[in-house]
Amino acid sequence: MTETPQIDPAPAPLAAATPDTAGDPVISARQVVRRYRRPRRSLTRPGPVVEALRGVDLDVAYGQRLGIVGESGSGKSTLIRLLAGLDRPTSGSIRFAGREITRLPDRSLRFLRRDLQMVFQDPMSSLDPRMTVGDIIREPLVALGHPDSRARVAELLDAVGLPAAAAHRYPHQFSGGQRQRISIARALSPRPKVLVADEPVSALDVSVRAQILNLLMDLVDEFSLTLVFVSHDLSVVRHVCDTVVVMRDGEIVERGATAAVYERPTHPYTEALLAAAPTLRKALAAHAAARNRKEPQER
Ligand SMILES: Nc1ncnc2c1ncn2[C@@H]1O[C@H](COP(=O)(O)OP(=O)(O)OP(=O)(O)O)[C@@H](O)[C@H]1O
Ligand SMILES: [Mg+2]
Repeated sequence: MTETPQIDPAPAPLAAATPDTAGDPVISARQVVRRYRRPRRSLTRPGPVVEALRGVDLDVAYGQRLGIVGESGSGKSTLIRLLAGLDRPTSGSIRFAGREITRLPDRSLRFLRRDLQMVFQDPMSSLDPRMTVGDIIREPLVALGHPDSRARVAELLDAVGLPAAAAHRYPHQFSGGQRQRISIARALSPRPKVLVADEPVSALDVSVRAQILNLLMDLVDEFSLTLVFVSHDLSVVRHVCDTVVVMRDGEIVERGATAAVYERPTHPYTEALLAAAPTLRKALAAHAAARNRKEPQER
């Protein structure tokens, strides 16, 4: 049976900044440029250069739920990989909790590895199939030199709605939705301040997307997390995020409170994106209409 997606109401506006960080953003990116060189196709000429980010400025406040939307190839994943310190910009500056991260060597990024965690689109390829779920969840703690904690694994499994016995099993023994719960438990294990999710429900069956989104929103609340949420699905971002930035071709073309941007887009690209988006409301209306059409014959 397919469940009708039931997504909780949109979140309250921006959470207040905590007193010790009042006013300062947790993430601050300035004039970030990332160029890639594509592989060469000719012996005499170098491969073409792709400008994946063309001078992006972005602030993320503590407690904010920021959505990043934009068509495929607009630079969403490139941007969050840079914010997470998984890649370096060609030029520009990125500060995390006030510290410049772009010029720090990997070994100096421990604070970032603890305070910023990521959840990816495909839990099957992001979870090591040879490790038990318990070891997967524990791994970030071990990497940070924390004592191995069984109690913490059980607590995290419980937080994501999985039984404690799941710790002894392997990723392939779980469904797609359950695997994404495991990824979320792993991301939460070092008690991060910021959770960055890159299309976390796009690979999941429609029937479980709403459950995982609701779980994510509950956990963001419970642990007072800052959320950076990348999606090409505008209806999902509307439900999850209080603020949204719209990317196109390596630039942010529009930003603001989600409700305001969706109701009164100022950039023609945002308008086009919204007009083209199959919204959840439209999908539910179509579903209801189809059911109403069918019902008389079924009676
Ligand atoms: N490692 C790389 N080498 C070369 N080009 C790259 C690399 N990573 C990204 N690009 C290019 O940079 C641009 C932005 O890619 P990116 O993956 O950030 O887009 P995206 O908005 O996340 O797209 P999608 O919605 O499809 O995930 C694209 O043109 C892409 O081909
Ligand atoms: Mg991407």
